[in-house]
Amino acid sequence: MTLPLASFLQDHDFIQVLYIVSFGLFIYGMSGLTGPRTAVRGNRIAAAGMALAVIATLLDPRMGNWGLIALGLVIGAAVGVPAARNVRMTAMPQMVALFNGVGGGAVALISWVEFRNTQGFAHTPTYVAVFSLFAAIVGSVSFWGSNIAFGKLQELIPGRPITLGRAQQLVNGALAAAAIGLAAAIVAGGHSQALIIGVLLCAAVLGNFVVLPIGGADMPVVISLLNAFTGLSAAATGVALNNPALIVAGMIVGASGTILTNLMAVAMNRSVPAIVAGGFGGGGVTAGAAGPGEHAGTVRSTSASDAAIQMAYARQVVVVPGYGMAVAQAQHAVREMAKVLEDRGVQVKYAIHPVAGRMPGHMNVLLAEADVPYEQLKEMDDVNPEFPRTDVALVIGANDVTNPAANSNPDSPIFGMPILNVNESQSVIVLKRSMNPGFAGIDNELYYDPKTAMLFGDAKASVDDITAELQAL
Ligand code: TAP
Repeated sequence: MTLPLASFLQDHDFIQVLYIVSFGLFIYGMSGLTGPRTAVRGNRIAAAGMALAVIATLLDPRMGNWGLIALGLVIGAAVGVPAARNVRMTAMPQMVALFNGVGGGAVALISWVEFRNTQGFAHTPTYVAVFSLFAAIVGSVSFWGSNIAFGKLQELIPGRPITLGRAQQLVNGALAAAAIGLAAAIVAGGHSQALIIGVLLCAAVLGNFVVLPIGGADMPVVISLLNAFTGLSAAATGVALNNPALIVAGMIVGASGTILTNLMAVAMNRSVPAIVAGGFGGGGVTAGAAGPGEHAGTVRSTSASDAAIQMAYARQVVVVPGYGMAVAQAQHAVREMAKVLEDRGVQVKYAIHPVAGRMPGHMNVLLAEADVPYEQLKEMDDVNPEFPRTDVALVIGANDVTNPAANSNPDSPIFGMPILNVNESQSVIVLKRSMNPGFAGIDNELYYDPKTAMLFGDAKASVDDITAELQAL
């Protein structure tokens, strides 16, 4: 006997099968994100999984108000598609913060809607109320915290820590206690809508107060942490709504966000609690380090033609890209320069620090865009032993990730952070515009090393000049 198509498509088991297929696509797609060669395909596969999960949800017979759903889809696409297409690579972290924040906000609003639909979780099992309220608190913290992270990175608000001083932890603790207390009152049988609004408001202020005291330099780590929060709150909503797609997708985001947060913290030699406690970075010069220009040593500057001659006769050149290469969008110019060097028999490699730039994988993405062969990209642990046999380390807009103070100066705020040991090369050429510090706001001893020469200027213009000089040799 054949079922009519509509009832087959809306069958509960069929929808569950679609969800299971979509999880498979999420996980298979994510496995593609482990390498630059497969990342784009992996992203598309995971996106197809998400599209399938949305379709499965829309097939649910309880779905109504198609006009409102269509309006939501149109507004979401009208805002999201141009924003994602036009965003500059350097602005990607704040974009991620916004998208993540919207997810947390949606979860918090769903909890509110559920509260209203069930007259304050009146006739639902206790676990539904508990998971919904957990989602309301964590989702709201994530939404407001992500907005602050966006504002700091977009320089709409100052990147420096903004804090209430000693009272901050106390106030945050009181806000968290108030949110949990109001939630407990709902679970205990409180039906007043003022209670859930109170929960959302306390969590909103908490989200602002947790992120405002954290310096701009730590924002990528904070965004990843908030991302993990959003994932957990979505998973909790999935439990409350009995929606396996939300549970699985939320847990994937929660787990991967947590792992990524930890990886970044380790790469910066910081602990996650120390980052959340705030006070580091944000553009100001940090205590314990010489400020820009305060160093006693002298700086040697060089020209594009001298840099070209030095590299043309090198056996091995290691390019060390950093945030400045992203700002200058110099990746294609770097690839052109490398081709000219390779044609002359020079071996070119790229040293990739895990937190170079402003987001995980920032340098890999840029260099992959410029078709740099993947096998030339060397992770920090693989490339560090190479520096002593490198004739020229060409540092392009990287600063903190090359600062030898991380190895040698216990007073430096970045002491203990693993760095690229470029100072062990035979010679170092640094491309940057000025003696300004990098994101940690501290001076770099590398620039005063006698074997270092500075080529001042925009990285793309400098690399183009070097290429022109190489071609003229
Ligand atoms: P930074 O230390 O931030 O240094 C970037 C350098 O690029 C600056 O010194 C700047 O000097 C130069 N620059 C900027 N625009 C330029 C242009 N158009 N042309 C040439 N140079 C330019 O970068 P990094 O070495 O990549 O280190 C990354 C920092 O971000 C670390 O402190 C890291 O801990 C932090 N961070 C990263 C992440 C992730 S996930 N990547 C997460 C959290 C924190 P001038 O202004 O003089 O040109």
